[in-house]
Amino acid sequence: MNTILVTGGAGYIGSHTCVELLEAGYQVVVIDNLCNSSQEALKRVETITCEGLAFYEVDVRDADALRGVFSSHNIDAVIHFAGLKAVGESVEFPERYYDNNVQGSKTLCQVMSEFGVKQLVFSSTASVYGFPSDDPIAENAQTQPAQPYGETKLAAERHLGELCRMDPHWRAISLRYFNPVGAHESGMIGEDPSGIPNNLTPFITQVAIGKREILQVWGDDWPTHDGTGVRDYIHVVDLARGHVKALERLAEQKGELIINLGTGRPYSVLEVHAAFEKAVGRDIPYEIKGRREGDIAIYFAEASLAKDLLGWQAELDIDAMACDAWRWQQMNPNGYRHA
Ligand code: NAD
Ligand code: WQD
Repeated sequence: MNTILVTGGAGYIGSHTCVELLEAGYQVVVIDNLCNSSQEALKRVETITCEGLAFYEVDVRDADALRGVFSSHNIDAVIHFAGLKAVGESVEFPERYYDNNVQGSKTLCQVMSEFGVKQLVFSSTASVYGFPSDDPIAENAQTQPAQPYGETKLAAERHLGELCRMDPHWRAISLRYFNPVGAHESGMIGEDPSGIPNNLTPFITQVAIGKREILQVWGDDWPTHDGTGVRDYIHVVDLARGHVKALERLAEQKGELIINLGTGRPYSVLEVHAAFEKAVGRDIPYEIKGRREGDIAIYFAEASLAKDLLGWQAELDIDAMACDAWRWQQMNPNGYRHA
């Protein structure tokens, strides 16, 4: 197996995974409609690795365009990152999320089947669990997504499960990511949110670089050790390496697997903030505000299945996440724009 189609490969996690794939000796073909990314990211992936990749500006919902890509390359497997991920936006525009995240995945699988390509690694999310827990959350936990975004990911997981049950040649691994943060150590690729960041760490680095005035901490009255929200933050490079391991597992397994990708090490907002002040070397202003609608107190991964089945575990700690995220922000104050 050596040619991998990466959908959404120009995005945050996709671009980091392309680096790891190329460095592992795979041939990489990327499709991306660039609705939330820049082709500049892929140019930098090629610079980092000194390897080339093929890129097509294609929407994963465009079956004919997909057929053109599959006709041009002998694709062995697919990693499917393409999708929309803004939880709040999914509440406002659920139909957009079902069309992109569910129909997009179904169209991709249909074309894959037409070309006899039946090995897929899917970008799922811990949002499928949807509930707070003081204990690590394992893959067999109840799923009850709180917003349409998580529902679309669960629907796509279930479709893959049906494919694997109907056709023994189909093999799929759905990876449920917790909270990806950080950037490649080169500082050349990283998280490039458009507009005001929803997520914690890009907001922190934008405050640190002076693009934002102050970090708003959404609540310090949560039932956690310091009152602020607790999550399982995982370095994006660890996450990317988990995908390479999942590809290797695909080659030797039958059917469907669902696996958490997290560290199992929870951190609070204030602990993350402290890690970034250490990385930045100065205070980062914050103020305590009320809770964010839809937020939950605490969730983090029971991460042992990935180690057992993929031979993978996260290796980079919160300080590496903070240092690498800060380096990216310093080198790219406006992300890939104005590159
Ligand atoms: P991202 O927005 O940076 O990357 C997604 C990429 O997919 C972008 O380049 C975008 O242009 C592309 N895309 C979107 N819709 C497309 C379509 N219809 N056709 C072709 N390309 C399309 O997001 P990310 O953080 O890299 O996330 C990648 C995947 O991982 C997503 O599916 C997301 O839901 C999932 N995920 C992300 C997180 C996170 O916190 N970042 C956590 C869990 C799961
Ligand atoms: C983390 C913590 C906030 C911003 C989201 C999606 C999830 C997944 C990962 C796609 C929480 C607090 C945040 C800020 C803050 N994405 N916070 N001030 O909500 O755990 O997960 O991203 O799959 O689906 O829901 O991540 O980074 O938004 O928040 O205090 O400006 O930081 O309350 O406790 P979240 P987050």
